[in-house]
Amino acid sequence: VRRIRTHHLREMKQRGERFAMLTSYDQYSAQVFDEAGIEVLLVGDSASNNVFGNATSLPVTVDELIPLARAVARTASRALVVADLPFGSYQASPEQAFHTAARFLKEAEAHAVKLEGGLAMVPQVRKLTEGGVPVMAHIGFTPQSEHNLGGYRVQGRGEAGEQVIAEARAMEEAGAFAVVMEMVPGDVAAEVTKAVSIPTIGIGAGAQCDGQVLVWGDAFGLRTGRLPRFVKQYADLHGILLDAARTYAAEVKDGSFPGPEHTF
Ligand code: KIV
Ligand code: NA
Repeated sequence: VRRIRTHHLREMKQRGERFAMLTSYDQYSAQVFDEAGIEVLLVGDSASNNVFGNATSLPVTVDELIPLARAVARTASRALVVADLPFGSYQASPEQAFHTAARFLKEAEAHAVKLEGGLAMVPQVRKLTEGGVPVMAHIGFTPQSEHNLGGYRVQGRGEAGEQVIAEARAMEEAGAFAVVMEMVPGDVAAEVTKAVSIPTIGIGAGAQCDGQVLVWGDAFGLRTGRLPRFVKQYADLHGILLDAARTYAAEVKDGSFPGPEHTF
């Protein structure tokens, strides 16, 4: 199968074809999503709260994310594999960003990296792209800055809409191949999508983006409790796994598993 490349996403935008992105942190999910034709797999720093049990995305480290990215990159034969640069691993300088990104490309064999931030990250995006690292930008609500942004809030309402557009333009100008917009009003995201020639990928940014992304445990029902409004739940994996685990435990206890057919 032909590998999805960054230029394919740009060509899809030009043709008006949308594409799908999901997070993935391991072999099984990467295999299923690749087979399903998901164009982009993101080894998100959302692994912090989806794999490692932290409350936010902030604590996860480069050393923790690299083995996950390696598993996804080894498994996916078609999808473009993008690795998130975790908090603290790129903000300090373009050199720091390059050092971290190179680790994801060399040690994990990811195809691209993603970083959060608008105008302040222009030097980082430029350094990476000039050094041969494809960069996906992430603007609007940026979870690594949640303490600065005052929690999970929609960004770019009213006058601030212009700022989101300016940030997307700056990311394109600096060389980013795509831009994620998180929790941005749908009309602002639609304007951004028209204003830039690189693909926009929405999460809580309405239907006019060129692509969409969701955290897979949210979309397929592993996460329980209240979900953000922008999540649509496509499956109840929590319920399916719970039933399976309970049935297994019950059969072990009543002696019906293993049966003769499972016994040597
Ligand atoms: O880490 C993540 O899962 C993300 C996506 C939600 C865009 O950054
Ligand atoms: Na992220």
